[in-house]
Amino acid sequence: MKFAIVGAGYIAAIHALAIQNCSEQVVAVVEKYSDKSAAFASRFGIHRQYAVLEELLKDSGVDALVIGTPNFMHAPQALAALRSGIPVLVEKPMAMNAVEAEQMLVASQKSGAALMVAHCWRFDQDVLWLKDQLHRIGPVLRTKGYGVHTHWGPAGWFTQKQLAGGGALADMGIHALDTARFLMGDPQPVSVYARIGTYYKDFDVDDTGVIIVNWDNGAVSYIESGWWQPHSDGAEAATQLYGRQGFAQLFPTLLELPDPEKKRVETVKSGFKFPRKEHCPQSMYDAQMAHFIEAINGKTVPFPGGEEGLVNMKVLDAAYRSARTGKVVEIHTG
Ligand SMILES: NC(=O)c1ccc[n+]([C@@H]2O[C@H](COP(=O)([O-])OP(=O)(O)OC[C@H]3O[C@@H](n4cnc5c(N)ncnc54)[C@H](O)[C@@H]3O)[C@@H](O)[C@H]2O)c1
Repeated sequence: MKFAIVGAGYIAAIHALAIQNCSEQVVAVVEKYSDKSAAFASRFGIHRQYAVLEELLKDSGVDALVIGTPNFMHAPQALAALRSGIPVLVEKPMAMNAVEAEQMLVASQKSGAALMVAHCWRFDQDVLWLKDQLHRIGPVLRTKGYGVHTHWGPAGWFTQKQLAGGGALADMGIHALDTARFLMGDPQPVSVYARIGTYYKDFDVDDTGVIIVNWDNGAVSYIESGWWQPHSDGAEAATQLYGRQGFAQLFPTLLELPDPEKKRVETVKSGFKFPRKEHCPQSMYDAQMAHFIEAINGKTVPFPGGEEGLVNMKVLDAAYRSARTGKVVEIHTG
């Protein structure tokens, strides 16, 4: 299978390695800056280099496109590829807003080309273990999750609203949001209340956020997002779930199951180490890529696909609106 990658930055290198680890080929890179393109091509043995995606699409000869560019390019690049019938794996957030995300979903449905959104935590070993065990805590009543960088934050395009759409919520909070939703079996959001602001640096996107999401399964999720924060109670995507019959958490990953008869709480440990050597391990991205490859081969439907990505964009849009208005914002899905 022949892959092209657009963007030759941080995440693109992880995807290139994932493709190669899945025994597939990266045949083309599309990158705005020729020096970055050349270094990337040489590192991964790529023969075709382009400055703009349209040139690649004219030449064709690729089976799939991975999009790892700044957020404002996700929708135009995905639309161009999907409309040419090329399957797309697009980074999170899938677009600048839900309107763009919906256009991408429609383009995929019309052309039949697969659209997958890189909500990578769905492929993490701890997350998958916890999802498998979660029935043991009974119905989930509430969750707490974290998408926070302490004492640092990104620079450049990430901090410009026109290029990124949103700040720490769109960059980091979305990991915690998607992880909570995935663990609960993808309930639909009903409403959102958010307090979002910029307090630590001078840019026009958010560096601090608290959002509260009401889900149609009756649960409520409390999510913290941030860059440059002085403290975080949890690592990226760390999530705690309070069930009617027990408690579950990621990082460290375990269950706490009260046994009223024995008057004690049993702790069920996942056996996975925390902290990890790398909190975002290559194996998670490899598993994500393997799923995308299965989807391209028609062996599965991309999950998370455009629909899951769109739900996250609806929550983000509602959260930013809630922060502007100070009101609870209802969300209509389906
Ligand atoms: N899932 C994750 O764990 C994860 C981690 C990091 C980043 N991301 C996401 O990946 C995306 C990229 O982030 P990054 O950290 O790799 O950014 P980056 O700045 O390191 O890389 C982006 C690259 O895109 C290039 N580029 C810009 N405009 C372009 C265009 N029009 N055509 C081609 N190339 C262009 C830039 O020159 C740069 O090389 C973002 O959406 C981000 O949210 C996801």
